[in-house]
Amino acid sequence: MREELLKIKQEAEKALAAATDSAALEQVRVRYLGKKGELTKVSRSMRDIPPEERPVIGRLVNEVKASLESLLEERRQEVERAEKERRLGAEVIDITLPGRVRRPGTPHPLRATLAEIEDVFIRMGFQVATGPEVETDYYNFEALNIPSDHPARDMQDSFYISRDVLLRTHTSPVQIRYMQAHAPELPVKIISPGRVYRRDDDPTHSPMFYQVEGLQVDHGITFGDLKGVLLAWARAMYGEGTRIRLRPSYFPFTEPSAEVDVSCTMCGGEGCRVCKGTGWLEVLGAGMVHPTVLRNGGYDPEKVTGFAFGMGVERIAMLKYGIDDIRLFYANDIRFLRQFGGIGA
Ligand code: PHE
Repeated sequence: MREELLKIKQEAEKALAAATDSAALEQVRVRYLGKKGELTKVSRSMRDIPPEERPVIGRLVNEVKASLESLLEERRQEVERAEKERRLGAEVIDITLPGRVRRPGTPHPLRATLAEIEDVFIRMGFQVATGPEVETDYYNFEALNIPSDHPARDMQDSFYISRDVLLRTHTSPVQIRYMQAHAPELPVKIISPGRVYRRDDDPTHSPMFYQVEGLQVDHGITFGDLKGVLLAWARAMYGEGTRIRLRPSYFPFTEPSAEVDVSCTMCGGEGCRVCKGTGWLEVLGAGMVHPTVLRNGGYDPEKVTGFAFGMGVERIAMLKYGIDDIRLFYANDIRFLRQFGGIGA
């Protein structure tokens, strides 16, 4: 009996020493100290031994049990400490790793340019007006003095929804819509930014692009007012030294009409690759509002006069940022877009 107990003790001690995790320790505990464990079995077999030996063996059983229990407790603490260290070791937190920063967006270069253009005109007292992108033939052409057989329609081939409804080819229909809604109020002094559409698609032409229309109607508005407003705008946009040049041109809705050039923003007028050696960049069309257009808008051309202009925003943004392909504006490539201003750039 005695030998058996000592053997159990030895075995249990070995098993405890060999157990390296809590699950293994628990197995050892159940095996030796559990309700059906080896030691309990010995206690149960007490009745088979002579009564005089029982106290001695009983004490020995209790000693072995106490010794194993304290050894178990010791091992449990060791094993738990080791397990904790293993866990911590596996999830090392590298505090030098930079956090995940969510970059704020940046203004789209077209939006930024548009905002800058609007800002300059707003400071000169212009109001911002808008009109629909899906337009009728009447507002897009007819009312602007472009009858259906007019050759000027060829320059603005469009996308038709039906015979009389199309995607507007320019922002000029807003001239008519605004005048009709406000006549005979004076002055009319608006800009109208927005999207326009044409059947065009190459590195410098997109089927969808932005324009800013301008219209001022009042008593005694002259061509000089037009030049003054455009020069002030060009200087605010591109710097005080900027000059403008007006070349005779033709639009059915203005008379006289002009193409307006700005002294090259890259070379200052010396001549370079961007201005193709001319020193000038064409940025907009303009002119004095045609009497027919004033009349269609509800104003009397005998009493009031006005000027109008229309500029392409992409072209202005391309010159401002040195972008050589218009399609980059709409490709949504974040590497391109992040290059323009903003906190996240
Ligand atoms: N609507 C013309 C265009 O898109 C530009 C323009 C506007 C010209 C107003 C004169 C006056 O080409």
